[in-house]
Amino acid sequence: MKHTLHKQAQQWVLEAGRLIKEKMDEPLEIMTKSSPKDLVTKMDKAVESFFLEKIRENYPSHKVLGEEGIGEAVSETKGTVWIIDPIDGTMNFVHQKTNFAISIGIVHDGIAEIGVIYNVMEDTLYHAKRGEGAYKDDVKLPMLPEKTIDQSIIELNHFWLCPNRRVNEEKLQKLIYRAMGTRAYGSAALELAFLAEGITDAYLTFSLQPWDYAGGFVLLHEVGGKLTDATGEPVDFLNRTTIVAANSSIHKELIEEYIELK
Ligand code: IPD
Ligand code: CA
Ligand code: CA
Repeated sequence: MKHTLHKQAQQWVLEAGRLIKEKMDEPLEIMTKSSPKDLVTKMDKAVESFFLEKIRENYPSHKVLGEEGIGEAVSETKGTVWIIDPIDGTMNFVHQKTNFAISIGIVHDGIAEIGVIYNVMEDTLYHAKRGEGAYKDDVKLPMLPEKTIDQSIIELNHFWLCPNRRVNEEKLQKLIYRAMGTRAYGSAALELAFLAEGITDAYLTFSLQPWDYAGGFVLLHEVGGKLTDATGEPVDFLNRTTIVAANSSIHKELIEEYIELK
């Protein structure tokens, strides 16, 4: 069952990616959600509906937690739950037409079993099944090597370095001084995929939704990385949370030395 689901999720993600690419040059209908910076397009909704229809038809007992809320409200992770971000990095999708992903995490009885992240315009598919390793297309990703903070590239939205209501920005500034470098790609799913690939070493954010991190969680777990909330506690795949995702060798130090929640 897990094997079929893993294959099925990959197949549907590739199909959805083709739909997006086919319509890439058509005018986008752009709307805003919680703020003028929080964008959504007709395409985000169409992609989520695509998955919902496929899942309802093929796995009627499964639940769907999607960013656009087209499925039913999901309040527990009992049974099988597909956690879907139809387009992660909508601002990139709208303004750059690249650097966005489709992200799927499949959680069974609270355990994240399958993760699929598709970098649509690069045409690279990251995928993982719990206990069986993580892959970029057909290539198995190696376990993450030991790192120190000085050797690390930290993914962080610059917003968190400005005064904000969630985290002490001055402590984060100290981290940035010490780290080898920083990156901000504008798609949480891609940031987690890059971390699992070992081309970055940590991703920190202080407000993220389950659909942003569920797929990446499985990938990262399979290469020996760690994803927790900013206090080091496990995430629950249902609620908005803070996230510290990192190479295991720096995860604890990041939390203890550089993160102070307000
Ligand atoms: C957003 C992106 C972004 C992250 C935001 C998310 P969306 O998702 O992942 O990188 O900083 O917190 O909301 O809205 O493009 O799906
Ligand atoms: Ca998202
Ligand atoms: Ca989205």
